[in-house]
Amino acid sequence: MDPEDDTLAILIAPHPTLKARARPVGAGDGEQVRALIPRMFDAMYKAPGIGLAAPQVGVKLRLVVIDLMPDDARKPIVLVNPEIINASEELATREEGCLSLPGQYADVTRPARVKVRHHDEAGIRREIEADGLLAACLQHEIDHLDGVLFTDHLSVLKRNMIMRRLAKEMRLKGK
Ligand code: NI
Repeated sequence: MDPEDDTLAILIAPHPTLKARARPVGAGDGEQVRALIPRMFDAMYKAPGIGLAAPQVGVKLRLVVIDLMPDDARKPIVLVNPEIINASEELATREEGCLSLPGQYADVTRPARVKVRHHDEAGIRREIEADGLLAACLQHEIDHLDGVLFTDHLSVLKRNMIMRRLAKEMRLKGK
């Protein structure tokens, strides 16, 4: 490892912080959150990934960064204290992965469309209505704030299979 590299380390499952409920970002968290956001984007882009939640870098705050990189251009989204305020009855199934479960993928079924209320990095209250990949990504990242991983949406059998495979792969990599 390069000692000069100060990229935030992403926690790998199973890790107790990934199973914990994060607390809301409050008025006193401004400085920490402002410092954390660019570092979370940096870690996410380097991984590379399309979403990262603060608990994945060991910070138990309700903070998420997302960038689906539409047309290969950066389009960063910051969500402070995001909340799903509406979810469609219609479901959609997509293959998901997670930076905390590197190399592991599975089909996950979730509401096809969601409306999310949140604050942006400037503290302005916003709403996003999403379908497709963004809807899945928002739900996946907000799950992280409640200690839920995509594998928690799978059968116990599939979840155990993925966790065993991940543990084996991490052992082989010496991690
Ligand atoms: Ni994830």
